[in-house]
Amino acid sequence: MLENKKSIIEEIESLKKNLTGKVLIAAHHYQKKELIQIADVIGDSYRLAVIASKSEAKTIILCGVRFMAESAALLARPDQKILLPDFSAACPMADMISPAAAEKALDRIVEITGEEALPLSYVNSWANLKALTGLRKGSTCTSGNAKKIMEYYLSKGKRILFMPDKNLGINTARSLGLVDSDFCFVSKEGFVPDSGANARVFLWDGYCPVHLDLKAEHVKELRAKFPSARLMVHPECSEDLVSLSDFTGSTEGMAKAIQEAPADSQIAVGTEYRFIERMKKEYSEKEILPLKQVYCKDMDLINLENVLSVLRAYEDGKSDTYRVSIEEKTAINARKALSTMIAITEGL
Ligand code: 13P
Ligand code: SF4
Repeated sequence: MLENKKSIIEEIESLKKNLTGKVLIAAHHYQKKELIQIADVIGDSYRLAVIASKSEAKTIILCGVRFMAESAALLARPDQKILLPDFSAACPMADMISPAAAEKALDRIVEITGEEALPLSYVNSWANLKALTGLRKGSTCTSGNAKKIMEYYLSKGKRILFMPDKNLGINTARSLGLVDSDFCFVSKEGFVPDSGANARVFLWDGYCPVHLDLKAEHVKELRAKFPSARLMVHPECSEDLVSLSDFTGSTEGMAKAIQEAPADSQIAVGTEYRFIERMKKEYSEKEILPLKQVYCKDMDLINLENVLSVLRAYEDGKSDTYRVSIEEKTAINARKALSTMIAITEGL
């Protein structure tokens, strides 16, 4: 390890010693290995969203992207603060929708079907979309619980507007047995075609550029070299890719499946490379192969240096610079959408 990195880790570890029980460092699975090393908790989007409510700590430093910190802040107790080391850690998918366009689509669905559709918003979206979702009596979801929540609404005979990730939406709906005629594709401007009159799931035209970089041709190359490898991919991948895989799951779901696989397993993984790199290290007795090395540049913005700056600011009583806060008007409705997700997921 580079000398500089080592000394930053030492300083972080020493600051953390005095902050036990007061400050919790939570990291997403896509974070760099040195951040995973200093983190107290590692999780997928769901675990990070509920992290504050499950922790005694009053301050949580969230090593992930901004929508993750927003979800945690919305669900935090009033005496807790969520700190984000770099506010520019965004997400291109979350920028592929605006609440105004989503509202236009919801109104248009009523026009063409004569019924309201419930908004189902992936947590990879900004607080203002979550607020519209709560206001229109819908729910958020993560990649780990999308199936459960979609199934819940479909079983009640509801139509769904799934936003903003078309791929998670279609992959989830397919896993529930929906067919082409059940879908209607909605443009990024919120345009819904008349042909959607009988659709059950309306799919927003958003996507994750990182996961879309994983393609069927990479599976072909993989199968040629490693014919017996089991392939697992994240559900943000295209429908094409998911149909070629053996297992689809959230980062947490994939980590669990890798952990439970027999020692001599050969597993190819299609998701952000830092997660794969760590799995390779943690389960060196198994052969873990990347489908392709792809990186999320937003996740990459969090590093040892800015986490150290947050800890130093905390010590100096100046951590509010890093605090994630959401205007109360937005927060009230966004919280409703997140709470509905938790209630359905946990069967409350
Ligand atoms: P999960 O960690 O919930 O699988 O989601 C990952 C993600 O969306 C980051 O893009
Ligand atoms: Fe957004 Fe994709 Fe990065 Fe996740 S991996 S934060 S969806 S760009």
